[in-house]
Amino acid sequence: MSDTSADKVATPVWDLPVRLFHWLLVLLIGFSWLSGEMEWMDWHFYSGYAVLALILFRILWGFVGSTHARFGDFLYGPGAVIGYIRTLPSRTAAKFAGHNPLGGISVVLILLCVLLQTGTGLFSNDDILYEGPLYKHVTKELSDWLTTIHKYNFNILLALIGVHVAAVLYYLLYKSENLIKPMFTGRKQLPPGTVPAKMASAWLALVLIAACAVMVWFVVTR
Ligand code: HEM
Repeated sequence: MSDTSADKVATPVWDLPVRLFHWLLVLLIGFSWLSGEMEWMDWHFYSGYAVLALILFRILWGFVGSTHARFGDFLYGPGAVIGYIRTLPSRTAAKFAGHNPLGGISVVLILLCVLLQTGTGLFSNDDILYEGPLYKHVTKELSDWLTTIHKYNFNILLALIGVHVAAVLYYLLYKSENLIKPMFTGRKQLPPGTVPAKMASAWLALVLIAACAVMVWFVVTR
């Protein structure tokens, strides 16, 4: 069978919570960087709390979300990862309905890195005016140490984001596969017969994100 896009069927892969999570995360990380640089610290804190709630939600969604949102769907063993790396030079895109094995690793690394970024921010201080909401629970030495991690980890996050965007562009330009459109529409062009993702309840997503927001609010107001 030929592998032209005419043979393919628009198949649901990304649920709405994953798509909203992704683009809100992009906007909020951009805004967190801007507000940090401009020293709009109140906004920097609020933005960090929102990012933390989003990440906590995404971790939970990785267990109870739709098919391709689940960690179990996109975390592969070493054999599959090596097998996938071997296909990288080929100009034909390997067909994965969800994240490919390397993409799955990058998702987990980005989630952990953002979690570390927000977590350390809660304990940080700037030696002048501002202290994270949990600063009062640790010693000044520990806060200084966590502040240093908060600063350096942002560079690691930038590197991960750089590799992530480069990988998406590599797919677009080298393998002629547009992964960006499905992150907006939720649908990928896949061979007929591909099993569509089993979508989790949007109500469950709403309850979980509300619970994560309350949890963050509870922690930062202690
Ligand atoms: C702050 C910058 C960014 C961060 C932190 C980020 C993070 C992530 C994360 C965590 C995922 C996994 C989504 C999930 O399963 O929940 C993801 C997937 C994805 N991102 Fe980003 N992203 C960023 C910027 C971008 C940009 C600028 C683009 C477009 C050029 C993009 C395109 C994609 C695509 C297409 C996927 C799905 C990849 C696939 O099909 O496996 N991302 N991103």
